[in-house]
Amino acid sequence: MEKLKKIPFSETKEMKSLLEVKDFSLSFPQYKKGFRESYIEVIKDFELTIHPGEIVAVVGSSGSGKSLLADSLLGILPENAEIKGKIYFEGVALTAKRQQQIRGKEISLIPQSVMALDPLMKTGQQVQSSIQNKKEKKRIQKEAFQKLGLPKDTHKKYPFELSGGMARRVLIATAMVSEAKLIIADEPTPGLDEQALEETLTHIKQLSENDRGMMFITHDIHAALKIADRIAVFYGGETVEIANNEDFLGKGENLRHPYTKALWRALPENDFKALKGNQPEAGEVFPGCVFEPRCPIATDFCKKNKPKSAMVNNGIVRCFYAES
Ligand SMILES: Nc1ncnc2c1ncn2[C@@H]1O[C@H](COP(=O)(O)OP(=O)(O)OP(=O)(O)O)[C@@H](O)[C@H]1O
Ligand code: SF4
Ligand SMILES: [Mg+2]
Repeated sequence: MEKLKKIPFSETKEMKSLLEVKDFSLSFPQYKKGFRESYIEVIKDFELTIHPGEIVAVVGSSGSGKSLLADSLLGILPENAEIKGKIYFEGVALTAKRQQQIRGKEISLIPQSVMALDPLMKTGQQVQSSIQNKKEKKRIQKEAFQKLGLPKDTHKKYPFELSGGMARRVLIATAMVSEAKLIIADEPTPGLDEQALEETLTHIKQLSENDRGMMFITHDIHAALKIADRIAVFYGGETVEIANNEDFLGKGENLRHPYTKALWRALPENDFKALKGNQPEAGEVFPGCVFEPRCPIATDFCKKNKPKSAMVNNGIVRCFYAES
């Protein structure tokens, strides 16, 4: 794979943001015997900025709210979801109306499931429907299929005639042919073998050419490190750290948050030591730091107080004791 072009935080300060998410929360009302009782807060105080040409990975475990985050940006949330906070696209507030206008055009989603393909439409036609230049749509679709190594006759096939890997490439092609400035790839590499993973990551990386920004959602930290400039670590619905790719070198001594350090050390090529305990359930409430029950350096102060995010060593962290 081509060497990673890294854009560290220090360089992004002068750049105009493509996407900016601030103080974003998402919750679902919970009902008991017909009465609204409380809210389950799945995403809390989420923040993230993506600049043109940048790949930012959002790494979080299963059920941590990653797909809901993607759907929030596209404005395709379930009806019962309630959101708070600010989302800006190219510096302008992303209202529901604007989301509808630019969805699939300026912001494109590679969905988590290949079931998102229309089962009744041939793949060529599906991809062509995302092309704005209608006169050139056949040529553009053909070029994208070629670039992604899809066999020549793929455009004539229905989704059920494709293997899982081919269907995934058709989804990637849909984003590739769009004129989107921001692509959100939601777990595009599930359960792939080593070779298929490398290929898919190469294709995903190709999508960030021409100054496109990308949010790469995954639970696979290795995959994130192969292509992302920065990695936002999602824990208990919060971004606990946003690190630069190179911060993951060595034993993680440049990482800032105890959870990110533990995640890194748990990998087989590092200490292979798993962190005790489990991720909090969606909606679990903590009076203090969300990581306190599992944190090896937690204090009494952490139990009762919530850390705010702060810039430390050119990255963002939410921990009282992150060293600068
Ligand atoms: N409509 C809904 N009403 C209530 N809870 C929901 C709804 N949709 C999703 N959830 C809950 O929100 C949480 C986050 O879901 P989400 O699908 O975003 O997780 P994820 O991080 O994408 O997981 P995965 O890695 O498995 O794809 C889950 O616990 C899920 O059960
Ligand atoms: S604030 Fe306290 S509990 Fe939370 S991560 Fe930092 S040290 Fe651990
Ligand atoms: Mg998901």
